[in-house]
Amino acid sequence: MRYRNHELWLSLLAIVLITAVYAFVVWQTRAIPAASGLFGHLIGVIGFLLMLMTETLYSLRKRSRLARWGRMADWLQFHIFTGIVGPYMVLLHTSWKFNGLAGATTALTLIIVFSGFVGRYIYTRIPRTLDGVELETPTGQLQASALAGARRALSIWHAVHIPIGMALFTTALIHIGAALYYATLLR
Ligand code: HEM
Ligand code: HEM
Repeated sequence: MRYRNHELWLSLLAIVLITAVYAFVVWQTRAIPAASGLFGHLIGVIGFLLMLMTETLYSLRKRSRLARWGRMADWLQFHIFTGIVGPYMVLLHTSWKFNGLAGATTALTLIIVFSGFVGRYIYTRIPRTLDGVELETPTGQLQASALAGARRALSIWHAVHIPIGMALFTTALIHIGAALYYATLLR
């Protein structure tokens, strides 16, 4: 089983680059970019699109009979990359204000990222093929009871992580609709 930390290093690199652009904008304008300004909007929209890809693409590849392209291991790495970088861009979009529903959406975003790291840890405890199929027999890595424990932990984790994602996208869509209507279109 191949599982290195490529996606975490690439995420860190992306975060450093995005922070550099953000710092440049702050330096140029001498102000924190407003969430409703051009730059604030841009990082909010791109970050949200990355989060939307995180929510949908991996599940589609995992479940759809038609979408069989690419290996599951690569899709999960992509899921993790977009699942870190998207929320980071959205965090910069907030202009460090967390009122009302938008603030709650940010809290859910941070919770799902944290939860993702927990899930990643449990997921990597279970030996799999590159296509994500669990290996039935325990390898030297884990004894049988530890493997059963990891499988149980992953299924409990799924039961928590997935509803958080649904709650997050519900509040995010309300925020986006309201923000576009009141803060963008009515201006
Ligand atoms: C999950 C994704 C998102 C989160 C967590 C988020 C979060 C936030 C937060 C915390 C604020 C500041 C609220 C305050 O003033 O206290 C904000 C403002 C704003 N957001 Fe988002 N946002 C997201 C996506 C988007 C997207 C995609 C758009 C645009 C299409 C958008 C448009 C706006 C606008 C226009 C404001 C400024 C509202 C105002 O000035 O009253 N947001 N957002
Ligand atoms: C915007 C942030 C994120 C969202 C919306 C999100 C959403 C989801 C969803 C909906 C699933 C269920 C996939 C399925 O079984 O169909 C999932 C699984 C998973 N996510 Fe995330 N996730 C996010 C961030 C992360 C992060 C940052 C990590 C790791 C650091 C991560 C690691 C995982 C893992 C390991 C799985 C389990 C894969 C499996 O059992 O097949 N996620 N995520």
